[in-house]
Amino acid sequence: MGPLGVCFFLLFCLLSASSEGGTIGVNYGRVADNLPSPGSAVQLLKANNITHVKIFDANSEVLKSLAGSDIKVTVMMPNQLLQTAATSPSFAARWVQDNVAPYYPLTKILAIAVGNEIFDDPTNLTSYLVPAMINVQAALVKLNLDKAIKVSTPVALSALQSSYPPSAGAFRTDLAETVMMPMLQFLRKTGSYLMVNVYPFFAYEANANDISLDYALFRPNAGVLDSGSGLTYYNLLDAQIDAVVYAMSALNYDDVPISISETGWPSEGDPNELGANVMNAAAYVGNLISRVLSGTCGTPKRPHCNMDVYLFALFNENQKPGPTSERNYGMFYPNEQKVYDVNFVLGNSNSSSARNNSSSGNNNEGNSSETWCIADPSAGKERLQMALDFVCGEGGADCTAIQPGAGCYEPNTIEAHASYAFNNYYQKNGKGSWTCHFGGAAYVVSQAPKIVKCTLPSGTN
Ligand SMILES: *[C@@H]1O[C@H](CO)[C@@H](O)[C@H](O)[C@H]1NC(C)=O
Ligand SMILES: *[C@@H]1O[C@H](CO)[C@@H](O)[C@H](O)[C@H]1NC(C)=O
Ligand SMILES: *[C@@H]1O[C@H](CO)[C@@H](O)[C@H](O)[C@H]1NC(C)=O
Ligand SMILES: *[C@@H]1O[C@H](CO)[C@@H](O)[C@H](O)[C@H]1NC(C)=O
Ligand SMILES: *[C@@H]1O[C@H](CO)[C@@H](O)[C@H](O)[C@H]1NC(C)=O
Ligand SMILES: *[C@@H]1O[C@H](CO)[C@@H](O)[C@H](O)[C@H]1NC(C)=O
Repeated sequence: MGPLGVCFFLLFCLLSASSEGGTIGVNYGRVADNLPSPGSAVQLLKANNITHVKIFDANSEVLKSLAGSDIKVTVMMPNQLLQTAATSPSFAARWVQDNVAPYYPLTKILAIAVGNEIFDDPTNLTSYLVPAMINVQAALVKLNLDKAIKVSTPVALSALQSSYPPSAGAFRTDLAETVMMPMLQFLRKTGSYLMVNVYPFFAYEANANDISLDYALFRPNAGVLDSGSGLTYYNLLDAQIDAVVYAMSALNYDDVPISISETGWPSEGDPNELGANVMNAAAYVGNLISRVLSGTCGTPKRPHCNMDVYLFALFNENQKPGPTSERNYGMFYPNEQKVYDVNFVLGNSNSSSARNNSSSGNNNEGNSSETWCIADPSAGKERLQMALDFVCGEGGADCTAIQPGAGCYEPNTIEAHASYAFNNYYQKNGKGSWTCHFGGAAYVVSQAPKIVKCTLPSGTN
């Protein structure tokens, strides 16, 4: 249960807000010949207050560098070991003994990803996946590490037979009963979660005629109605996540949590890779971080924001094959300079989108300096309340004027109070697009909003 309707005291609001949000992590891929040492990379993570990291192996130097850092780590058993791990419990046990146990707990290993997007592996590993997960789990149990370390596997959206509209989400028929069902059973039984790799960029790139860039980048937009469920989606990521949720639901595994094990946006691409540029990457990543950290990352189907999101990726990786975009997902260049300005903590008004109005979603050429942030009533009271709790608590907005008896208390509606608080937060944080989002519960306007007896300050000076 979330904090809805039980937020009577500020202290309680703060507690609720912080337990509601998700966490932001990064994928630390190393398919490059020019990256800083693991030690330097860990310093970079720390300097940016990044609390969660996922790696694509269980590299000893990396795990040693993370020791004592308090950064939570997801390690990976590479695909090429899956067959042996599935068929030999003793191999799986030895792998855990050698690659996980020696580093824990000094290195805070949180999860083991057994393989990566294995349904897309050119060798057909499908039948080995769940047995390998079971053997890795058994190895953790033997070492009494199963409470601390979860076993899962990242699944790409290609595991879906259909994903549009989200309510039609279904797993591929060759996977649903044979692999996904036993896997979800395993995840439920072990208290683990499904890892999903989700890239709105790919869908946008392939369907730019049908999908608006604003919808892909978490900017204000008209929304897309899913007529199957009656739910309206205000961003593509939510729609893609919910397609997976509906697919799980169709197999009666509604309760298994999801972690977004990869998502990102390339800062550069080939000429035919529509949308791959630094402005869009900054907007996607910045807006996503603010959603997750502000506790507004719930989806229409799963409104509570308790999702972990691992951004892809820490560095540009110059040895990745494929189109130019593949080598340009990094938030940092190998020399540790930022590709675009990005902050992994909330409330820092120096984020790029905060300083750069070009992505603010306010396309009103007439008077673009005068803007306000107001609540979108169609988001529903629940989402507005969640965002309101956050913004007046952890978010640090000044909400004294909407307390009982104060000047903006009337009209006493969630919509009016949320507009006041959202606008306060927006003005306070330099009017960046990420400060007026709240999971689609707010939008920017360039006409002074009319709220009876209470004028929202525009903050322009
Ligand atoms: C990281 O967190 C510390 C302590 O909370 C804070 O002082 C520092 O400014 C943060 N760094 C960044 C880059 O936000
Ligand atoms: C992969 O192997 C399984 C049996 O192990 C089979 O049912 C499935 O059709 C194969 N998939 C592909 C794409 O070849
Ligand atoms: C924000 O940026 C300005 C100039 O770019 C700089 O002087 C200031 O120290 C930065 N503040 C923070 C909190 O990073
Ligand atoms: C602001 O946006 C413009 C494009 O409109 C871009 O050229 C510029 O680099 C951006 N500035 C920052 C600091 O991101
Ligand atoms: C913008 O709005 C302000 C205040 O509403 C007004 O004083 C100013 O003249 C407007 N500027 C333009 C270019 O319309
Ligand atoms: C941002 O807005 C200010 C006015 O508030 C304007 O002077 C500036 O040119 C804008 N910058 C960009 C990159 O649009």
